[in-house]
Amino acid sequence: MFIFLGGSGVFCSHCGSKLENEAKFCHQCGQKVLTNGDVFEEIKQETTHLAEGNIPSEPAGDEQALRWFVGEKKENYYLKKWAKGDRSWNWAAFFLSYFWLGYRKIYKPILWVMGAYILLDLVIALLGIDSTKLNNAIGIAMGMSFGFWGNHLYRRHAEKVIKNVKGSYSDMESVKNEVRLRGGTSWLGVLKSIGIIAGYTALSILIFTYVPAINKAAEPANTVQTSVEKTNSKGDIEKDVKDLLQRNVQALEDENLDEYMSMIVDGTDQYDQTKEMLGTLFDHYDLDYSIRDIEFLSVTPTEVKVRVTQTTTLVEGEGFRDNQSVMVHTLKRQDGKWKIFNSVAEDIHYLDDEGAPDTTANTDTGTTTDTTAAPENETTPSVGLTAEDIVQQVCISCHGGNLEGGIGPALTNIGSKYSQDEIKEIILNGRGNMPGNLVSEDEAGMIAEWLTH
Ligand code: HEC
Repeated sequence: MFIFLGGSGVFCSHCGSKLENEAKFCHQCGQKVLTNGDVFEEIKQETTHLAEGNIPSEPAGDEQALRWFVGEKKENYYLKKWAKGDRSWNWAAFFLSYFWLGYRKIYKPILWVMGAYILLDLVIALLGIDSTKLNNAIGIAMGMSFGFWGNHLYRRHAEKVIKNVKGSYSDMESVKNEVRLRGGTSWLGVLKSIGIIAGYTALSILIFTYVPAINKAAEPANTVQTSVEKTNSKGDIEKDVKDLLQRNVQALEDENLDEYMSMIVDGTDQYDQTKEMLGTLFDHYDLDYSIRDIEFLSVTPTEVKVRVTQTTTLVEGEGFRDNQSVMVHTLKRQDGKWKIFNSVAEDIHYLDDEGAPDTTANTDTGTTTDTTAAPENETTPSVGLTAEDIVQQVCISCHGGNLEGGIGPALTNIGSKYSQDEIKEIILNGRGNMPGNLVSEDEAGMIAEWLTH
C-alpha cells in the first residue's frame, strides 16, 4: 500500500534536503522545519497579503471565470500562482495530497493514482516482493508530484469546467452561478477522497490476502534437505508421525524389539541404551500401552517435536506401577522415514495414587518409550523414612533390587563416579530416560548422601 500523507518532517521546506526524524531544524540550511500548522499559517499569510494589495484590476473574461471557480477566499492566491506558469509549488497539495484534491473537488487524479496503485500492488503481490521501501519511496514521490503539479492540475480542471459551463449557458449570470457551484471547496469532497482511499486500502488488503505469489511454490524446494524423499505438507507429516507412534506402541505390546528399534534413529547413545533397557523391560513385564493425547509442538520437513501422554498398565509381572507419563519425542528423518531421535520424560503420574485419571477412557494412536518402567512405590514418601527406604520404594524398579543395575545403570559404586552434589542433581532433574522430580529436594539430598557413603 502506498498511502503516504504529509511531507512535514520529511523534507526541508527551504532547501528541500531530506530531514532526520523529528528534526526541528534543517541540518543543511539551518532553517526551522515547518510543521503542518506552520504551513497553513504560511499559506494563509500569503493569501491575506495578496488580498490586501496587488489585485489585478479589470480581470479578463477567462480570469474572471477562474476567480469565480476558485472562490473568493483563495482566488488571489491561485491566480498569482497560475500567473507564474506551471512551475509553482503548492504546499497544501504536498502535505494533504488526496485530501487537498478532494477539498478542491478534483477527483479524477485520485482515482487514477489509486488505479495505478492497485496494478502495482497486484504485481508486487504476484512477485511476492517485500515492498516496504518501495512503498515509502512511491508515497513520497507522489506527495512531491502533488506539490509540483497541484496548481497545474487545479488550473486544468478549472479551465475544463469553465469551458463546459460556457458551452451550456449563454447568459453571464448563469455561467457565474454554475462555475461557482462546480468550483469552490467542499468538505464533502474531503470525505469522498477518504472514501476512495478506504476503498483502495480494502482492495489492496484483498490483493495481498488472496493473490498467491507465483514464486512461492519454488520456496520450500530450496529449504528441504535433499535426503528428504518428498516434500510433505504439515498435515501429511503429522499423519506419518501419528502412524509411527501407533506402530511404536504395537511393537512394545508385541515385545518386538527389532520392530521397535527400526523406529529409533540409530548411531546415537540413546539407541544402544534404549535397546538394552527394552530388553530388560520385555523380560520382566508384560505391559499394556495406550496413547491418551498427542500434541505437536513443532513440525518442519526435517524435524518434529511431539508431546505424547500415555498410560502404561501392568498385564503380567511384579513390581510395576501403572502410570500416566508425558513424553516429548523429537523425531527426525532417517532413510526417508520418520524415526524417534530423542525422548524425554516431562512428567510421570502414578495411577494408584488418589485422584488418578480414569484409565478406561482411551484415545487414538500410539507410541511409547523406555521410562514406562516406573518405580514401584510412593513417589513422595512420608517424613521419617530413611534414604534407604526411599530408594527401596522409588529407585529399585529401574536400578535393580540391590542397585546392581536394571533399566538404569548400577548405583552400587556411584560415589566413585559422581560427587554427592552431582548425584543430588541427577536425582532432582532426571537424566536421559530417568525422570526428574521423583523425590523432594531434601530426600534427594538424603539419598545422595546415603549412596556416596
Ligand atoms: C524410570 C526408571 C528410573 C527410576 C525410577 C530411577 N532411575 Fe535413575 N536412572 C535411570 C536411567 C535410565 C538412567 C541412565 C540415564 C542416562 O544417563 O541416560 C539413570 C541414571 C541414574 C544415575 C546416574 C548413573 C550413572 O552412572 O550415570 C543416578 C545417580 C540415578 N539414576 C539415581 C537414581 C535414584 C537415586 C533414583 C531413585 C530416587 C532413581 N535413579 C530412579 C532410570 C531410573
